[in-house]
Amino acid sequence: MDESASQEEPLDTPADGRDTDDRERDGRDDEQDVIEQMHALEAEVRRCQRCRLARTRTHAVPGEGDYRAVVMFVGEGPGYEEDRQGRPFVGRSGQFLTETLARLGIRREEVYITNVVKCRPPENRDPQPDELEACADYLERQVALINPRIIVTLGRFSMRRWFPNGTITKIHGQVRNIGRGRVAMAMFHPAAALRNPRWREAFEKDMQKLPPLIERARKANAAARRGEALPAGVPHPGDPDYEPAGQAGHPAEMPTENDESASATSAQ
Ligand code: URA
Ligand code: SF4
Repeated sequence: MDESASQEEPLDTPADGRDTDDRERDGRDDEQDVIEQMHALEAEVRRCQRCRLARTRTHAVPGEGDYRAVVMFVGEGPGYEEDRQGRPFVGRSGQFLTETLARLGIRREEVYITNVVKCRPPENRDPQPDELEACADYLERQVALINPRIIVTLGRFSMRRWFPNGTITKIHGQVRNIGRGRVAMAMFHPAAALRNPRWREAFEKDMQKLPPLIERARKANAAARRGEALPAGVPHPGDPDYEPAGQAGHPAEMPTENDESASATSAQ
């Protein structure tokens, strides 16, 4: 799935300018369809045996939140508490993520939260390339069904899906057009933010970009539903870091292979 071809300014793209397989959200039938397909996908994840992580998990963690969310958070993989409960980001770093969102007036229930691997790697080790590969299809389908306007990556493994050559310390907080009316922003992992005050400061500062982006995304969706262009005077997403599509370093959407050229960083 290559979403990098679009030269549109992402959040301005009206629904009728999007790919025909993209769903418009103006019908109850469509909404019902998404709910059913998401439920089927979650059930599939919960019984998945595609990689070795199936053998050591307690519960697979498909993700949770609003299927109509304009923003999707993508973390690394379930930890101890997530594996125990079958829910994403419910341990220490999840609590921090939820609190940070709440301080900005964003309820956890109104976003969608998932991970690049849906099962816990034993002892919280890094997910391996073949595990990321085996699990990638679920995330791709979640993105296609929920169709978020904004994807926030938490940590380096989800960053690499949208920013294969990115280094988190350099690109965190930048809002990039990834095509199809979507933007992506890489952020430090909340666990990294909890370990290091500098990363915490960056994490909290980057998060502050979300409320205006969400507001703009909602306006864009509402305008698209009415078949209108975005109202004039709405500020551009992510100014001044916003980079239009097609510039150097522009990410390909969802590369299927783990890109080893991506710089490893202990900052996650
Ligand atoms: N860390 C993650 O990356 N994901 C979770 O769901 C929990 C902790
Ligand atoms: Fe399946 Fe993903 Fe779990 Fe592997 S990590 S068993 S691919 S759901």
